[in-house]
Amino acid sequence: MYKKDFPFFSNSKTVYLDNGATTQKPQSVIDSTLKYYNEYCSNTHRSGFGDAARATTEFEKTREVLQKFINANKKEEIIFTSGVTQSINFIASSFAKKFKTVIISSLEHHANIVPWHMQNRTLGNGLEVVNCDSNLDFDYNHFENLLKSNPNSFVSVAHVTNAFGVVYDIKRIVSLAHKYQSVVLIDGAQSLSSFKIDVQDIDCDFFAISAHKTFGPTGVGAIYIKEKFFDEVEPYITGGAVIHTVDFEKGTSFLPSPYKFEAGTQNITGVIAFKEALTYIENIGYENINKRKDELLVYLDNELKKLPDIIFYNDIKNCSGSRSFNFKGIMHDDISILLDKMGIALRVGHHCAMPIMNKLNIKGTIRVSLAFYNDFEDIDKLIVALKRALSMLKD
Ligand code: ALA
Repeated sequence: MYKKDFPFFSNSKTVYLDNGATTQKPQSVIDSTLKYYNEYCSNTHRSGFGDAARATTEFEKTREVLQKFINANKKEEIIFTSGVTQSINFIASSFAKKFKTVIISSLEHHANIVPWHMQNRTLGNGLEVVNCDSNLDFDYNHFENLLKSNPNSFVSVAHVTNAFGVVYDIKRIVSLAHKYQSVVLIDGAQSLSSFKIDVQDIDCDFFAISAHKTFGPTGVGAIYIKEKFFDEVEPYITGGAVIHTVDFEKGTSFLPSPYKFEAGTQNITGVIAFKEALTYIENIGYENINKRKDELLVYLDNELKKLPDIIFYNDIKNCSGSRSFNFKGIMHDDISILLDKMGIALRVGHHCAMPIMNKLNIKGTIRVSLAFYNDFEDIDKLIVALKRALSMLKD
């Protein structure tokens, strides 16, 4: 139904089920990228000639579109980055490093673990990790206990976990954290493609976004920073475009947010094209996106359950768009090699979430991650391919 909007599906026969890794791009995003390079390729926020002014206007339009899209109070609260990884590294080193304790969850992606290790924080030494329950969901009681013992912490958690698709109740997390004077960053890498985000309603302090997982270009993302933290967050990198004054004797003074956080030439075409992805989502509507993804996930779950010796680690009650599993006695890597030969694209392995794999005592999983443009036929083809692969590997 929606595949016609995405040129990838006219050009490739691949059954694309790796949307957790990156999503396909609608024609409008690709057109916007080409238009910038073909018609007005110039730098932003510097030169004043016509094309440069146009580039700056288009770039800044995306800030306004994204501000409205996530209901930020001001456009200055939207800072462009290269994606969630950079957004988290930025806030970790420019703001959160001063906190005695950082609290994350046991299902976090490495992008929300390693930046804390880089600050020499390990479990019990400046880093606390919220347990998961037997269905891999966030243990809210354990979280509250951690907050009680560590008030004034920095909390950094995913909205939707990448390896198992578990959806955390981020409003509850933020409200509990604020009760104990803590500050919260939400990693929205896997969520903006599926859920309406209203940062004022969620009341989070930081919200990290990746465009490429939200039908936009690669190499672009953003971090929402609540205005009250503008003065406390230091620039992450410095250079041109962020400057109010530079003087050999007096040193440097910076422009206000967002510019003080956007040193150097940005991914101009990526930022400009990102607004087309947001407009595309708005036109389809989150209601339709979710309805479709939920139908597909239920169908996928039912079909997978019919396969012999399948092992799941959670159910789909609290999941969005992703199913992670194994087959008894079979290496996930072997499945992946065979599925690739049959034209099925998915991800196997630890999904950059090694700690939860260790906890489950597995090396990794086979992960099918859906987007609203997938269809039942994609799932039928996956099941046929899995049956073939299983029969080959069991012989
Ligand atoms: N973080 C991405 C994934 O889950 C790359 O596959």
